[in-house]
Amino acid sequence: MTRLKYFLILMCLVFFSMTLQASPKSDLKLFQKYFKERFPKVRFKVYQDGIYALDADRRAAWADWVDFAPPYSDGLEFGKKLFYKKFKNGKTLSSCFRNGGIGIRHRFPYFDKKLGKVVTLELAINNCRTKNKEKKLKWKKGKLAAVSAYMASTASGKKLKTKIGQDEGALAAYKRGKQHFYMKRGQLNFSCADCHVFNSGNMARGNLLSPALGHVTHFPVWRKQWAIQSEAQGKRGPNRGFGTLHRRYAGCNKNIRAKPYKAQSDEYTSLEYFQSYMSTGLKVNGPGLRQ
Ligand code: HEC
Repeated sequence: MTRLKYFLILMCLVFFSMTLQASPKSDLKLFQKYFKERFPKVRFKVYQDGIYALDADRRAAWADWVDFAPPYSDGLEFGKKLFYKKFKNGKTLSSCFRNGGIGIRHRFPYFDKKLGKVVTLELAINNCRTKNKEKKLKWKKGKLAAVSAYMASTASGKKLKTKIGQDEGALAAYKRGKQHFYMKRGQLNFSCADCHVFNSGNMARGNLLSPALGHVTHFPVWRKQWAIQSEAQGKRGPNRGFGTLHRRYAGCNKNIRAKPYKAQSDEYTSLEYFQSYMSTGLKVNGPGLRQ
């Protein structure tokens, strides 16, 4: 083969790997640019606040609620206790994590090459329990959500660190999440993007639709509606009201009459991975407070 041929093959390879590399990055640029143009007056960092980034009146009432009477205080305390509670073998949840689990929420989710899957914070918490021969906690609410909320609170103000990189598995997970986000589904035939990108800031059945930019920063969330549901079921524990991101995903899937996936299924961890990457540059501010 001539040198020129070698050179051309090499250039093809370089270009190919560059396009693979560039794709999540260019997605990210376009995604964030879209919101900048749709809401020119909204400052980037405020997207962490969901609908309250878009509506001044609602924001004022919400800010009072957060400042004067955050209803999740007891739940956070409860989460902290569980975080340091000894397992039968004497270890704790805290002992599984770097830096004792303090200030690390922004590093999740990440793609674990050895496991070949996306690891969310909730998955890591339950992996820690099974590693120490304890039972898994239920995924979407209750104790797990309270621990996760406590961990989030210790990482407040840290920028999300989700990376995609060049690993094939990581890219595949990213693409699966992206596909879920843009694909129309359910009897109502809506995609996530229909509501949270193209109609963000508009109303849907009395609800203001939040921008997808910033969707992940404040989870787990304490929701009044979730607290009311728990109370109706006779549950009065301090952790009532908390829900994980996957609880929310399931709710949004159900609202459009699509069958929800299981919490921590590859489908939802991939969606979380995609959504977290799209919020690159924003800071952790969980637990969030929502109606
Ligand atoms: C028919 C419109 C609709 C569709 C489709 C929809 N959602 Fe939602 N979603 C809502 C409404 C309404 C709320 C509550 C108001 C808000 O925060 O946007 C909400 C809330 C959320 C929240 C919480 C936002 C916050 O600040 O706490 C997340 C995250 C979310 N949706 C993600 C998704 C994802 C991911 C999909 C696709 C699987 C999806 N939604 C599909 C209507 C929709």
